[in-house]
Amino acid sequence: MEETDFAAHLTDLMTGSALTMLIGIGHRTGLLEAAAAGPATSEGLAARAGLEERYVREWLGAMVTGGIFTYDGREYAFPPGHAKYLLGETAANLMPSLLTLSAFTGILPDLERAFAEGGGVPRSAYGPYLESLGAKTGDSWKHIYREHLVDGFFGAVPGLKERLTAGVRVLDLGCGTGNAIAVAARAFPASRFTGLDINPRVVEQARETGLPNAEFLVGDAAELTADPPYDVITAFDAVHDQDRPDVVLRRIRGALAPDGLFFMVDTNFSSHVEKNIGNPLAPLCYAISLMYCTTTSLAEGGAALGAMWGTEKATEMLADAGFRHVEVLDSPRPQNCIYVCRP
Ligand SMILES: C[S@@+](CC[C@H](N)C(=O)[O-])C[C@H]1O[C@@H](n2cnc3c(N)ncnc32)[C@H](O)[C@@H]1O
Repeated sequence: MEETDFAAHLTDLMTGSALTMLIGIGHRTGLLEAAAAGPATSEGLAARAGLEERYVREWLGAMVTGGIFTYDGREYAFPPGHAKYLLGETAANLMPSLLTLSAFTGILPDLERAFAEGGGVPRSAYGPYLESLGAKTGDSWKHIYREHLVDGFFGAVPGLKERLTAGVRVLDLGCGTGNAIAVAARAFPASRFTGLDINPRVVEQARETGLPNAEFLVGDAAELTADPPYDVITAFDAVHDQDRPDVVLRRIRGALAPDGLFFMVDTNFSSHVEKNIGNPLAPLCYAISLMYCTTTSLAEGGAALGAMWGTEKATEMLADAGFRHVEVLDSPRPQNCIYVCRP
């Protein structure tokens, strides 16, 4: 890249960072929601949102020149084709990710200390920042499961939906607030689902789903036993963060019935930086990995695989854990792939 192009590239990065902050303001003040109700002048939008016009006008200037809103010389508009990526209960809405990313600014001093002194930032340190921003990390996946779990994710594996329909025992490891099970247990009433998570707070929330064929347990995946053996074990975005991923994968292998299937959804990148160059999703995922996955694992003395552990490392670890047949399939989301693993 030419020097002048690089300066322009850096300016673009700063612009993106600044607009991200302003989009967060739009979310928290209700401006985005108000703007989605229809075109308005700055006075009209300020009145609609109950805010100060002078601030709203400056914010609108950034939204228009940043390509988020349009302006006809009198009224500002938030096109529906843009609004769906920042509002609404759908998988397209990127707001939960944007807010989660913004929340990481709160732990930066601790992270920078860890660069110099080692160790990491514990998961508990993130809570206040995520909660104060109103970010619910489970939210984006909740919508993704609702729209894509049954046909997109499970449908990618020939015969899996049929087995789930007939009725099997399923364990969802690192189930979080139970969003995947909430969808799967309704779609496959003959199957019995167990969610396991080490965090009692999320398990308590998961139990609120109250489905007759689902139960939620607090426990460490590194201590998983084969009692009972499971026909299907799923792990959505839950393996690379493990403190002892090698132990967990071996436990999963040991807890599967002989014809069982481990269905692991994880990030879809290479383990080698040079192969990720040019992948537009890679810098963001390395950044999230640094600011959350890697440092929270290091805080526990863990393996710190990070979100960018990559398909090469993952398939190697799955083979080491005793899976003799591992297939890597595309998922409905380009940033994730599906590992279909059989003993
Ligand atoms: C990124 S979240 C994914 C949650 C959920 N699968 C979803 O898609 O919304 C990873 C989850 O793994 C859980 N977890 C981490 N280490 C664990 C362990 N050793 N045993 C069980 N759960 C664990 C965390 O508490 C967290 O809820």
